[in-house]
Amino acid sequence: MPKIPSGHPDALGPLTEGPAVSLAPSEVPATPRRGRSRPAKPAARPQGEPWARPEVAATAAPSERFTFGLKPREIARHLDRFVIGQAEAKKVLGVALCDHFQHVRMTQEGIDAPFYQKQNVLLLGPTGVGKTHLIRSAAELIGVPFVKADATKFSETGYVGGDVDDLVRDLVRRAGGSVQRAEHGIIYLDEVDKLATRGEGGGRDVSGRGVQTNLLKLMEDGDVPVVSPNDMNAQIQNAMSAMRGNASAQPETINTRHILFIVSGAFAGLDQRIRSRLLGEATAAAGSADSRGSLARISRLDADALHAEAVTADFIQYGLEPEFVGRLPVRVACHGLDEDDLFHVLRRSESSLVRQYERAFAAYGIEAVFTDGGLRSLARMAGRENTGARGLMTVCERVFRDLKFALPSARVRRFEVTEELVADPRAALRRLLKTGR
Ligand SMILES: Nc1ncnc2c1ncn2[C@@H]1O[C@H](COP(=O)(O)OP(=O)(O)OP(=O)(O)O)[C@@H](O)[C@H]1O
Ligand SMILES: [Mg+2]
Repeated sequence: MPKIPSGHPDALGPLTEGPAVSLAPSEVPATPRRGRSRPAKPAARPQGEPWARPEVAATAAPSERFTFGLKPREIARHLDRFVIGQAEAKKVLGVALCDHFQHVRMTQEGIDAPFYQKQNVLLLGPTGVGKTHLIRSAAELIGVPFVKADATKFSETGYVGGDVDDLVRDLVRRAGGSVQRAEHGIIYLDEVDKLATRGEGGGRDVSGRGVQTNLLKLMEDGDVPVVSPNDMNAQIQNAMSAMRGNASAQPETINTRHILFIVSGAFAGLDQRIRSRLLGEATAAAGSADSRGSLARISRLDADALHAEAVTADFIQYGLEPEFVGRLPVRVACHGLDEDDLFHVLRRSESSLVRQYERAFAAYGIEAVFTDGGLRSLARMAGRENTGARGLMTVCERVFRDLKFALPSARVRRFEVTEELVADPRAALRRLLKTGR
């Protein structure tokens, strides 16, 4: 299957996942794990952390059980370290992930729940406010196989772009080849709003609907062949190994009944649709003395408040298939980031861009010291970009361009990022080059 890259230029690179880890009860990782495969060795407890890193199961058998001792609040607390705000989304993800794990655990212990309904999650909200970042940070914490893909990469037939079934097969790869483990994995689909087919919201042709339809069976209870019918190489290898009598004990299909789906999208323009609907409903109820007041109230609602009012009908009107939206019962809106949030993204978040810049300068032996005044100015400028935290990247690139170019060849060993520097980086650079400070 072709690699499915994220469509976004995220600072942190592609989201990755690895083999299952066993989390001892009430333990939370102190640092996120990154990289295609996680090292199978326990790490030392970092200074000042109230909890220990989980023991990674070094001898993980393919059919190993998941052990999971996290509670929703602990997941939210972990997310707090990387994602600023979005309390509601953290709550929803914490509950959804814990429920998923408890369900997996009980199924593995033989406690079956024949009528269990998956709590697939839909995350919506403006661009650059942390939707992908939330899932990325949560993925590092959870120990089940996890795949992420952009919905835009799929086509109905699979001839162009990818086939949605490949997602499930990818889970098997991420599960170290174990179908049993893949059957309890999590699939995260970003940019689902781009699958919308009708109306102004969606620009996609009918193939968007085809992809949604293909996803339906996966989201509920479908079987996907382990070997792709389009993958001739794998088919031949399979046939040969069967002829040699090496057929593995692996099932030939992957059942998706227990795979959790999390989808997200910016749904640009959805807020205005919701406003029109609310206004329509309020007008229909006209006659009641309160109607004028509620019309005025609805007109004043901002995008965040409108998103919080989203109902199934709004998504259908936006261009998603009713069956598709219906299979995403848990919905939560991420709020926009104001200047204060952006300041905290820079100052507090462990994934802050500030660390990246500090590192880049440190590589040349230069210490970059960010003052609160400087961070506030960067946040103010980023707020005007209206692209959420992505605006920070745009602004920082502009502000630090000349400094990053000139300082490595200069004798400057330390500089402060102040309000003045952010306001006029060229003047600050001239001063630094002249005085060395
Ligand atoms: N709330 C936040 N706290 C900390 N960092 C954030 C937050 N929101 C965004 N970021 C930073 O901005 C980058 C982009 O955010 P992210 O990819 O999560 O946006 P998104 O909400 O998925 O947007 P889109 O709808 O365009 O995909 C992240 O990699 C992260 O570094
Ligand atoms: Mg995203």
